Amino acid sequence: MPQIFPKALNPIARTIILCLPIVAASTGVGLAAFYRSSYATGIHETPPQPVAFSHAHHVGQLGIDCRYCHTSVESSGFANVPATKTCMNCHQQIWQGADLLEPVRNSYKTNTPIEWNRVYNLPHYAYFNHSIHVAKGVGCASCHGRLDQQNLTTQHPTLLMEWCINCHREPEKHLRPKSEITSMLYTPSAPNAEGKPAVWKRSDFANFGKLPDGKDEPLLGTERPTNQKELGLVLKDKYKVRDAVTMTNCSMCHR
Ligand code: HEC
Ligand code: HEC
Ligand code: HEC
Ligand code: HEC
Ligand code: HEC
Repeated sequence: MPQIFPKALNPIARTIILCLPIVAASTGVGLAAFYRSSYATGIHETPPQPVAFSHAHHVGQLGIDCRYCHTSVESSGFANVPATKTCMNCHQQIWQGADLLEPVRNSYKTNTPIEWNRVYNLPHYAYFNHSIHVAKGVGCASCHGRLDQQNLTTQHPTLLMEWCINCHREPEKHLRPKSEITSMLYTPSAPNAEGKPAVWKRSDFANFGKLPDGKDEPLLGTERPTNQKELGLVLKDKYKVRDAVTMTNCSMCHR
């Protein structure tokens, strides 16, 4: 057999061949790391906005409910960003001369919507629906974080499929009473720490046990569980949340 490569090259060729799996593996690791990186997922990203609107001021300090501005979040799959008219309900009187609000006044005068930049964005092949999550006791803060502490809106979770699936496997870790959906301060504290049975009282709820439609929170007067795990299981049953197999079925999110 004639020699194809000169003998002197052999150590180099051997090194290259020996290194190939390492190169391939590290590219794989690199790609996986990139896939989860903040650059690829957009987590912690804060896109610039045409107006320096602050949730910290409007929600945290003024205490305006999410649904005053995001009116369709309970009724539709899509949570709208408010029309300029909603801002002008207040800003025709408050801060009406401020430079910061010039683009808002301009939008109102010329009847052209403000072009907010999207913060949260799923790829089109993934189906998402707000109203079902809100109706089944998943709070805004579970997915968007503490908006009441954000000046410019920042993406809070990764929005990766594994993030959706983790909750769909064990939703009981996250469910809360429906009247607490928009509350930023809600915590599942242990009420009957002394071991005494406790029942839900109006004062246990941020808005005194009133649902958005004015009805009473159905949990009022019923026994209050001592921890999230127990509460989650009670709510899962009460809100008829489907089982983990159904909830992680591919066709639920890829239709
Ligand atoms: C006074 C009106 C107002 C209130 C109240 C309000 N928002 Fe907003 N929200 C806005 C505006 C305007 C934007 C678009 C600018 C931005 O992204 O900051 C927005 C953007 C958002 C976004 C990002 C949307 C995107 O682009 O992907 C989320 C999420 C959000 N709001 C959630 C909430 C939650 C949760 C609450 C209640 C805790 C709330 N908002 C209360 C006006 C409001
Ligand atoms: C319920 C009344 C109300 C509504 C609705 C409202 N604002 Fe405000 N806004 C205020 C008040 C009050 C302040 C002053 C806050 C302070 O003391 O710093 C303010 C302040 C601001 C400021 C000045 C910077 C800051 O955050 O302090 C901007 C910009 C602003 N609002 C934009 C908007 C936009 C855009 C909308 C509509 C999406 C809107 N506001 C809706 C009451 C409102
Ligand atoms: C189960 C997680 C989850 C919950 C709970 C949730 N959101 Fe969202 N939100 C998302 C995702 C995911 C997107 C991006 C949707 C897309 O790109 O199609 C989003 C987008 C938004 C947007 C941008 C407009 C839109 O619909 O795409 C706003 C505004 C918003 N959410 C407000 C809220 C408010 C207010 C609440 C509470 C009443 C809330 N969200 C509860 C996950 C959630
Ligand atoms: C914090 C918990 C949580 C997170 C995060 C979450 N979900 Fe859900 N999701 C739920 C619960 C609870 C339900 C209600 C299930 C039921 O009705 O049985 C639900 C229901 C759904 C449904 C069923 C809608 C229908 O009409 O049947 C879809 C689709 C869905 N989620 C998509 C997503 C996607 C996509 C994401 C990630 C971007 C996501 N969810 C993140 C808790 C969550
Ligand atoms: C609870 C909702 C949900 C379920 C259930 C779900 N997916 Fe996804 N899937 C998503 C979301 C959201 C994305 C987009 C993530 C992103 O932006 O990268 C995604 C992305 C994908 C992608 C693109 C690559 C990737 O991983 O980002 C593939 C392929 C995929 N899903 C396959 C599946 C298969 C197969 C199943 C069933 C075993 C499944 N999905 C179940 C929500 C879901």
